[in-house]
Order: sequence, then structure tokens, then C-alpha cells
Amino acid sequence: MTVFRDDLLKERTALVTGGATGIGKEIARTLGRHGARVCIASRKQENLEAATSELEGEGIEVSWFACDIREGDQVDAMISGIRDGLGSLDIVINNAAGNFPAPITGISYNGFRSVVDIDLRGTYNVSKAAFEAFLKERGGHIVNITAPFQNMGVSLQAHVAAAKAGVDSLTRTCAVEFGPYGVRVNAVAPGATADTEGLDRFEKVETGNPAVCPLGYVGAKQDIANMVLFLTTDAASYVTGQVINVDGGTSIDAFKLSLPKE
Ligand code: COA
Repeated sequence: MTVFRDDLLKERTALVTGGATGIGKEIARTLGRHGARVCIASRKQENLEAATSELEGEGIEVSWFACDIREGDQVDAMISGIRDGLGSLDIVINNAAGNFPAPITGISYNGFRSVVDIDLRGTYNVSKAAFEAFLKERGGHIVNITAPFQNMGVSLQAHVAAAKAGVDSLTRTCAVEFGPYGVRVNAVAPGATADTEGLDRFEKVETGNPAVCPLGYVGAKQDIANMVLFLTTDAASYVTGQVINVDGGTSIDAFKLSLPKE
């Protein structure tokens, strides 16, 4: 079910990093269902192959690249492959991310670096390479998937919060530098999202009830994908450099208070 016209992204090509699983796959599906040719990237070939056959079964035009976005040469090879195989690229979704819940003392030097490398450096690598090879010539869109907590203190997420604060900053800088070339750059910050590895992992540690938000329920992957789709259309033509929370209002609910149920 969609409120958007199904040919909205006809003749557009979209790259979704981390597009083989979770929120990334839902974004790939949503862009594809609205007419885009979709290229998904991830480190794991088996996940890419499974997602490709699933999405192709739904009538979506999909190709894939196995790529570790931390490695500049692999990113360059992927961008060249997109040029050779698809000939164009209009939309880049920087969704690939690493995460595990741990206190600062439980994160090794390498663990901290891994997450910052995937989330922040990976977003930089792909944005820079795609802009230089494609977006600079014809304009386009970059949407970065970020998080809703990095402007606060957040336990067990020092590495992720630091990386995502960098992603938000990069979103604004790319928006300023790429804007004159007709490229809009925005970020989407998902709140608790049902049926994701992230939510599964956090249900294993002590958390509040993720459904306690002003809208009263946990969001769906489709809610995130809908905002990404919106940002890649002319409906958002004057929106750039923004970080948009899609979290049922969690981030603006100061104390998350509620009376006990009668
Ligand atoms: N707790 C503490 N440290 C952990 C950890 C955990 N649960 N998982 C991984 N690490 C550490 C490793 O021990 C290693 O550090 P070390 O070399 O000092 O031991 C470091 O992180 C890197 O791990 P490695 O296994 O080499 O893999 P990687 O660099 O390719 O990526 C992750 C590691 C955890 C970032 C990655 O596998 C990941 O994010 N997986 C989950 C993906 C996901 O859920 N994405 C959705 C994001 S919401």
C-alpha cells in the first residue's frame, strides 16, 4: 500500500548500501516498486543473492555488488561497475551500518573503529565517489540513514552515536557543497523499528518499552522507506541538509511519562 504514484522513480537508478537486509532491503523494495532500477550493496554475497531473487520475484529490476564500503578501492570498483552495467546513478542511500550494544569499557579500540569506519567513513566514501562519477553531472539525491540519539548522551552506543553525529555533519556539508550541482542531501533517523536486527539486539538489553512514544506503537520498516522515497522526489524539492526523525515522536517526548494503566 503506497500513497505515491507507482512510476514516480521511472528511469532513475538507485544504489542502496546495506540493501540486502533489514531497513535497507525495504528501502530498495520501495524505490523499486516506484519504478527505480535498484542496485543493492553489502559485504555478504549470499545475502545479496537472496535479496535479489526475492525482489526480482516482486517484479523489481535489481542488480548487486559485493562491497565493503570502508575500502575506497572497493567503492570505486562498485561505482565503475554501476557505470558499466547500468550507465547512470541518480539516488544514493547510505544505509549500511554496524552496531552492537556495549559500554565504553566493553568496546575495544578496533570495535570502535569498525563502527565509525562503516557508518561514517563508508558514508563519506560512497557519497564522494557517487558525486564525482554521476551526481555532479546530472544532479540527484543522497539520503543517509542515521540515528535519533546522537545529540544526547546514550549508554551502550558511544561508537554508534559518535559515528552518526559525524554522518549528520557530513549530511549538512554535502548538502552545502553539492547543492549548486542540483544534488539534495538529507538524512533519516529511524526510531525503534519492528522486525529489524537493531530492535532484536536491544530487546536483549534493558530498555524502556519502545512502544512508549506519542504515537504509541513501534514503527515499521515501511515507515522509514516512505520517508526515504519522499526525499528522493520533487515533493521534497526544496528540502536539503535536514535530519528527519521517523520515530513516532520519541525524540520530542522529553520525559516519556505515563500514568500506570488502571
Ligand atoms: N561486543 C563488543 N565488541 C564487539 C561486538 C560485541 N557484540 N561485536 C564485534 N565486536 C568487536 C570485535 O571484537 C572486534 O574487535 P577486536 O578485534 O578488538 O576483537 C571489532 O568489533 C570488529 O569486529 P569484526 O568481527 O572484525 O567485524 P567487522 O569489523 O567486520 O564488523 C560489526 C563488526 C559488529 C560492526 C558488524 O559485524 C556489525 O555491525 N554487524 C551487525 C550489522 C547490523 O546489525 N546492522 C544494523 C545496524 S542498527
